[in-house]
Amino acid sequence: MSVKEIFESMDYGPSPESAADALTWIVDQGSRFGCFIDGGFTKPGKTFESRNPATGEVLAEVTQATQGDVDAAVKAARAAQPAWAKLGGKGRARFLYALARLVQKHSRLLAVLETLDNGKPIRESRDIDVPLVARHFYYHAGCAQLMEAELPGQEPLGVCGQIVPWNFPLLMLAWKIAPALAMGNTVVLKPAEWTSLTALCFADLCQQAGLPKGVVNIVTGDGAVGEMITGAEVDKIAFTGSTEVGRKIRAATAGSGKSLTLELGGKSAYVVFEDADLDSAVEGLVDAIWFNQGQVCCAGSRLLVQEGIAERFHDKLKARMDKLRMGDPLDKCIDIGAIVDPEQKARIEALMQKAAGEGEVYTGCAAPEGCFIAPTLVTGLSPASLLMQEEIFGPVLVSTTFRTPSEAVQIANNTHYGLAASVWSENINTALDVAPKLEAGVVWVNGSNMFDAAAPFGGLRESGFGREGGWEGLAAYTRAAGKSKAMKKVEAFAGETAEPQDVDRTAKLYIGGKQARPDGGYAQNIYDRKGRLLGQAPISSRKDIRNAVEAARGAAGWSAATAHNRAQVIYFIAENLQARAAEFAARIDAMTGGKSGAAEVEASVDRLFTYAAWADKYEGAVKPVPLRGTALSLRQPTGVIGAFCPDEAPLLGLVSVMAPAIAMGNRVVLVASEPFPLAATDFYQVLDTSDLPGGVVNILTGSHEELAPTLARHMDVEAVWSFSSSDLSKAIETGAAGNLKRTWVNDGTARDWLSAAGEGETFLEAATEVQTVWIPWGA
Ligand code: NAI
Repeated sequence: MSVKEIFESMDYGPSPESAADALTWIVDQGSRFGCFIDGGFTKPGKTFESRNPATGEVLAEVTQATQGDVDAAVKAARAAQPAWAKLGGKGRARFLYALARLVQKHSRLLAVLETLDNGKPIRESRDIDVPLVARHFYYHAGCAQLMEAELPGQEPLGVCGQIVPWNFPLLMLAWKIAPALAMGNTVVLKPAEWTSLTALCFADLCQQAGLPKGVVNIVTGDGAVGEMITGAEVDKIAFTGSTEVGRKIRAATAGSGKSLTLELGGKSAYVVFEDADLDSAVEGLVDAIWFNQGQVCCAGSRLLVQEGIAERFHDKLKARMDKLRMGDPLDKCIDIGAIVDPEQKARIEALMQKAAGEGEVYTGCAAPEGCFIAPTLVTGLSPASLLMQEEIFGPVLVSTTFRTPSEAVQIANNTHYGLAASVWSENINTALDVAPKLEAGVVWVNGSNMFDAAAPFGGLRESGFGREGGWEGLAAYTRAAGKSKAMKKVEAFAGETAEPQDVDRTAKLYIGGKQARPDGGYAQNIYDRKGRLLGQAPISSRKDIRNAVEAARGAAGWSAATAHNRAQVIYFIAENLQARAAEFAARIDAMTGGKSGAAEVEASVDRLFTYAAWADKYEGAVKPVPLRGTALSLRQPTGVIGAFCPDEAPLLGLVSVMAPAIAMGNRVVLVASEPFPLAATDFYQVLDTSDLPGGVVNILTGSHEELAPTLARHMDVEAVWSFSSSDLSKAIETGAAGNLKRTWVNDGTARDWLSAAGEGETFLEAATEVQTVWIPWGA
C-alpha cells in the first residue's frame, strides 16, 4: 500500500522492525546451539527446534542438555566461584557494568531476537524488557561495588542453579544472574525450552565482556534439565515459573540444605473505585492484562470494579479492546503479539472451554490466523468461579463487582496467590487505606506492571517466597560469613522413677491465652541429670497443633496493633521475667544440670529488651525508582509462624525465637525444647501477667519429630522455623510444599544463643514479608 493510498483510506500502515540482524546473528552462530559451559559453547548434542510463534518458522536448533552437560556446568561454576568471590565486590562491579553496557550496545539485536523467539510486541521488548535488563545490571554493579561496605559479614552462597520461564526470557535471566554475580556467586542457568535464544546471545555477551570462564553457564532444554539442576550439587535454586513446578522443586530440595527462592503464579486483583479516573484506569488495565499477551505472573487479570460504575467502565473498556491492534509482533505499532507457543494457546483455550457458560464473554479486536488469541473480557463472574480463581496466563480478563472498600479487600484477598494488586482511586485516603490491606507482595496505586531493579518484587502464599530487586533481594544470594558448627542432638536425661503419669499434676500447654490439657491426655516424665523426677510435661498431638494454630489465627488483632504497643507488651514481659529471675535460673540449672541458668535468664531479659527496642525500628525503605512515582518497601508481618525452639537453651532459645516474631506483629505456635520443656511451661505464667493478648503466643511441648510434619503441612501457617537439635529440615520443607509456606531450618548448624548470633536482623527479616507499594509522587 502506498502512502498516498494510506492517507486516502486512513487504513493502518504497518511499520515492521527488520529481523535481518537477529537472523544473521543466528546464522553466524551456525543456527544450531550447544550449551555455554566454562566460557565456551559446547558442540550441539541432541537438539530441538526453537520457533517464531507468530509465523511458525524454525529459528534455530537448541541442545537438549544431558546429565553430563549439567554436571560439567556445575563443575565449571564450582571451580570458578572462589576466584570470582575473591575478586571482591569492586572487581565484580566492573564486569557487571560491562555487561550492562553491552546489553545497551546490542539492545536492538536483543529486542528483535526476543520478539522473534517469544512473540511479544517489539514495542515491549525494545522499550521495556531490554532497558530493564540493562538497568538490572547497572543497579547490581552498584550493589557489588558497595557489598563490602554495606553488607559486612555477608558472603556468597556458592553455586546457584537458576531456572527461568518463557514469558520474559532475557529479563528473568537478568533478575537471576545480576544479583547472584554481584554477591560473588557463580551460576548455572536454564532458559525455558520455548525461548532459549536471548540467553544464548547473553552468553555471547559474557564472552565479549571477558567474564572469567565458568562464572556464567547456560544449559538449555526442557523440564528434565530443570530437574537435573535441582538435583545437582548446587547451593541454591532460584526458580520463576508455575506454582505446580515450584511445588515440585520445594519437595525435591527438601532437607538438602539448598537455599531456595520461588517466584510463581498469580491472579492479581485490579481494583477500580468509583472515584477513579476511569480513562486512566482503562489504559492501566490494557497494560495490566494485555501486556505480553497476559502471559505475566503479576498480570492484573482479576478486575474488581465498584458496582455503581461497572457498566460505564466495562463499556469504556470494550471500546478500547476493539481498538487494540494485534498482529506481527515485529510491527512497531502492535499492541498484542503472538502467544508463546501453540501448546500454551491450547492450554488457555482448554481452560476457557472448561469454564464455558460461566459469565458473559466479550472479545475485542480480531485475532489473526495462527498462534494468536484476541483480547477477552469475561464479566458477571462470581468470586468463586473457576476463571476467577485459576491463573489463565493469557489475554483473558475476568471481572466482578464490589460495593464497599472492605468488600473489595475481601474479594481481592480471596485467592491462594499473593503476587500483586492494583488500586485505582483519585481519593488518596481510599487508595492508601486499601493498598497495604491487599495481601500481595507488590501493590500499584493508580498504576500497573511497574518494575525496577531497586524495588523488591516477589509474592506471598502460593505465589512463592523471596524477593528480587533492591537490597532486600540480595539476602537471597548471601549468608552470614564464618564456619558453622555442627549441631549435636540434645538428649533428655533418663530416670527410673516409676511414678504413674498423672496428667493432673503435669504442666499444661498454653493455647489461646489459657492453660490447656493435651488432647491425648498423655505426659512424659522430665528427669534431672541424676535421674530424679523434676516434673511432667504434656505430649502434644496433632489436635493440639490445630487448636494452637486456630488460636493464633484468631489473634489477628496483634498484627494490626501499633509497633509502639507491641514494644510495650514485650518490655512488660521482660520486666515480669526479671522479677522471677532466681526461680527460672534454678529451674534451668535443675533441668540441664548446668550452672548457666542465671546467665540464661539475664540474656533472655536482655533479648526481650532488644526486640522491644526493634519493634518500632525495623524500618522499610523508600526506593528511588526511575519512573514517575516512588516505591515504598514495607516490612509486613508474615502471619502465623510455627517454630521448634532450640533444645539446648530452654528459656533463652524460646525467647530468642518468640520475641522477634511477635515484635514484628506475628502470632506464634512454639514447640518448646524437647528434653527441657519445663522452663517454657513456667514461662506462660509470665506471659499471662504481661498484657499479651491470648493467642499471640501458644506453647506446646512434646516430640519435635512427631509434631514437625503436622505443623509444616498446616495450611493456615505462613512460616515454619526450626532450631531443634533433631534434624527436621526434610520433614518441614516437604510439608511446606503444600501451601508453599516460608521455612527457616537450621540444617544441623549450631547457634550460640548467648552470643550475637542468637539475635539480630536475620530474625527480623525472617519474621517479615516485604511488601512493595508503588505510589504516585511528584518530583
Ligand atoms: P513451567 O513452570 O513448567 O516452566 C518454567 C521453567 O521451569 C522452564 O524453564 C521449564 O523448563 C522448567 N521446568 C519445568 N518442569 C520442571 C521441573 N520439574 N523441575 C525444574 N524445572 C522445570 O511453566 P510452563 O509449563 O511453561 O507454563 C505452564 C503455566 O505456568 C503457564 O500457563 C502459567 O500459568 C505458568 N507460568 C507462570 C510463570 C510466572 O512467571 N509466574 C512463567 C511461566 C509459566
